[in-house]
Amino acid sequence: MKKIAVIGSTMMDVVSYTDRMPEAGETRMSTDFHIAAGGKGANQAIAAAKLGADVMMVTAIGDDLFGENSRKNFRRHNIDDRHIMTISDTANGVASITVEASGQNRILICAGANGKFTPDLLKSAEHDLSLCSLIVLQLEIPLETVYAAIAFGKKHGIPVLLNPAPAAENLSFEKVCDCEFFMPNETELAITTGMPTETLDGVRAAAKKLLGHGLKNVIVTMGSRGSLWMSKDHEVHIEASEVKAVDTTGAGDAFIGCFAASYVASGDIEKSLRRASRYATLSVTRTGTQGSYADAEEFTAFLQELDGKTA
Ligand code: RIB
Repeated sequence: MKKIAVIGSTMMDVVSYTDRMPEAGETRMSTDFHIAAGGKGANQAIAAAKLGADVMMVTAIGDDLFGENSRKNFRRHNIDDRHIMTISDTANGVASITVEASGQNRILICAGANGKFTPDLLKSAEHDLSLCSLIVLQLEIPLETVYAAIAFGKKHGIPVLLNPAPAAENLSFEKVCDCEFFMPNETELAITTGMPTETLDGVRAAAKKLLGHGLKNVIVTMGSRGSLWMSKDHEVHIEASEVKAVDTTGAGDAFIGCFAASYVASGDIEKSLRRASRYATLSVTRTGTQGSYADAEEFTAFLQELDGKTA
């Protein structure tokens, strides 16, 4: 089976639920709380693994209880953990997340060990990376490491998918234009390009700007507005299915994990996008991040349910 390498972040998510966000200086009672494994890289790896993909995680974890639990979590999901590096005297990454009744979330991250994932740490994984069929990246680790991974992918002819999240204003287009897939959400697209993305036309114009920089496939996730794939020869808008969202945390990661799993299996971009869109939709109907990701069986049942409704 073709292998996916996720090179990225691992966090522990500390999540509070509230009817509304507190104002500055206000204290509010939260309606619920949990601690669970997260981090954009880890979430994408777990989503792909839950769908049956063969996944290797290259990440830095803390030498604390959160780091230990994170490693156990990867193992539990049959993820290749040979390149999960414990950084001594360093705390694991932590994300403080607040989710309001609409399902909307706000996230504050403390990088911890992720911030110490320097390019030299990639070296020990190079041989195993060279055997992978897709490299998946985000921006919760140092930019220099992301650039090194993109250059590695180019050198070895391995397609690279970059999810530019959280957005970085100083992203070098020269370095990221070697990616096969650039997958921001509309906010990240606005920050990356400096262009407005409130309307679909705005999203199209900003995506075109990125294609002008040499990016091959720009795929923008837009929540309830669906997703848009633009390349030199394609413009495909995939509508989102209507569901009641209870927690949108990690929906973008669900999309990317499912896209990666489907793309390495089929090589079909449009089919993978349609699956990813539905997988992310299912995730927002459930609370939690990784806990909201369906396995292959649950996902098939959901697809049948949706197709029954539209038939
Ligand atoms: O994309 C959602 C993720 O962002 C959360 O799991 C949190 O850890 C932050 O990294």
